[in-house]
Amino acid sequence: MSNQVVITMPFEGQQPGTSGLRKSVTVFQQPAYLENFVQSIFDSLEGYQGKTLVVGGDGRFHNRSAVQTILKMAAANGFGKVLVGQNGILSTPAVSCVIRKYQAFGGIVLSASHNPGGPDGDFGIKYNIANGGPAPEKITEAIYASTQTIREYRISDATDIDLNRLGSAQIDDMQVEVIDSVADYAELMQGLFDFDAIRKLFSSGFRMCFDGMSAVSGPYAKAILEGMLGAPKGTVINGEPLEDFGGLHPDPNPVNASQLIEIMNGKDAPDFGAASDGDADRNMVVGRNFAVSPSDSLAVLAANAKLVPGYRNGIAGIARSMPTSTAADRVAKALGIPCYETPTGWKFFGNLLDAGKVTICGEESYGTGSNHVREKDGVWAILFWLNLLAATGKTVEELVRENWVQFGRSYYSRHDYESIDSNDANGLMKNLREKLPSLAGQALRGYQVDVADDFSYTDPVDGSVSQKQGVRIIFTNGSRIVFRLSGTGTQGATLRVYLERFEGDQARINEPSQEALADLIAIANELGEIEARTGRSEPTVVT
Ligand code: G6P
Ligand code: ZN
Repeated sequence: MSNQVVITMPFEGQQPGTSGLRKSVTVFQQPAYLENFVQSIFDSLEGYQGKTLVVGGDGRFHNRSAVQTILKMAAANGFGKVLVGQNGILSTPAVSCVIRKYQAFGGIVLSASHNPGGPDGDFGIKYNIANGGPAPEKITEAIYASTQTIREYRISDATDIDLNRLGSAQIDDMQVEVIDSVADYAELMQGLFDFDAIRKLFSSGFRMCFDGMSAVSGPYAKAILEGMLGAPKGTVINGEPLEDFGGLHPDPNPVNASQLIEIMNGKDAPDFGAASDGDADRNMVVGRNFAVSPSDSLAVLAANAKLVPGYRNGIAGIARSMPTSTAADRVAKALGIPCYETPTGWKFFGNLLDAGKVTICGEESYGTGSNHVREKDGVWAILFWLNLLAATGKTVEELVRENWVQFGRSYYSRHDYESIDSNDANGLMKNLREKLPSLAGQALRGYQVDVADDFSYTDPVDGSVSQKQGVRIIFTNGSRIVFRLSGTGTQGATLRVYLERFEGDQARINEPSQEALADLIAIANELGEIEARTGRSEPTVVT
């Protein structure tokens, strides 16, 4: 076997977005498309010769063949060893866990997260650094630059590795270790949570429904919940990872996880419901007839962290993405710890976690995690909730309402306008940006504008600056409207409108969110000229 140097030409548009390069499968199937990107990753790194790389993905269509290609390219580029999940499968948080545990040089995650899969669906690839987290912008920009000038890539002409069998194999001089996809991750979870208490909870008749959405969390949830924690068989539904996710959209929100919502709103609903996304880094938590908003979930976890063994000594700080509600800020204030506000994208939490400034992080987009890995972690969040339910004997709804009573409530909603024309979307954002200077001090439907700006973030650890991270209209009563374009979509553009209203009056914290936010919704539509500019009178998804 020998290494081949293959002459290639740059592809346009290989720019990593919020979370790596995501394109439709057909784009990735073009000859050299994946190879160019992988070589560009390697060309942007230094000092990996002889070191270990972790490779795994969410099992979606194209995962297996992409893994084989990456293994052969890693060998030809001089890596010493690759740890790869059995069948090419590793959830995103599991990749992070394995990189950290084995002190690997970095890792490659193959996933388009919650985007649909299958031959007509999406595929994705991203690089994670030695701390286990997504590469910072400095690296993703170098990767992109490299994709624009690439002239050749290196690949071994060795035969495919058998990914089904655990154990060692060799590609030229590089060792390949096919590892159990779940074991290292499950061990990490066992060290953080009170598994005895959760086991007792299940043996007392507590019932749960975990929706794996036919994606990668299934094997993790089955092994941990039904295996280690003794939850009855059948607790995990849609638990087999399928290459096309059974045709479903593996994004855990009340719209896409409708089966779970139906179960949790049904007559004989279990005590606790949860779902995770394509690559198992997102989570949705549901009580009986009660869906928890991700922003509230972050606040509840932070407020009660001391009840969980892994966080017994308290948390150093909290970080949330800018559009996430300010519920966690109030918890942080009460705990006397800092709360950081970062741009959207888990990568912005990495420095804060590495520097020990924060312990728990969360995003409105159904992401929650902590310093145990450097990715958001769906199964972790769900186990955290289970641990809280076991430790307090309270229901999901009781824990959330208790938080509202103690800290006030941030009514919150996100309105998405999916697949709109990119020019329309850019025009809408440009128009908003132009309006910003004149907005401060204005009254809109009785709401007084306090700050109107385009969010810019200076990383407190390395001083790097990220600009244009979302248009914010902040009102004097603490309410906010945020507009930004999604960085993860693959079809046209997706406009996200985030709405938040703070309510400190105990008598008024129990209204339905959309009603409580009606004024802000109207202001957002007017300011953004959404219907006129996009032709849409209603959002595609409301969470
Ligand atoms: C991914 C990222 C998150 C981000 C989310 C939404 O899941 O890991 O950090 O919040 O996408 O991003 P978007 O740019 O689509 O709003
Ligand atoms: Zn995901």
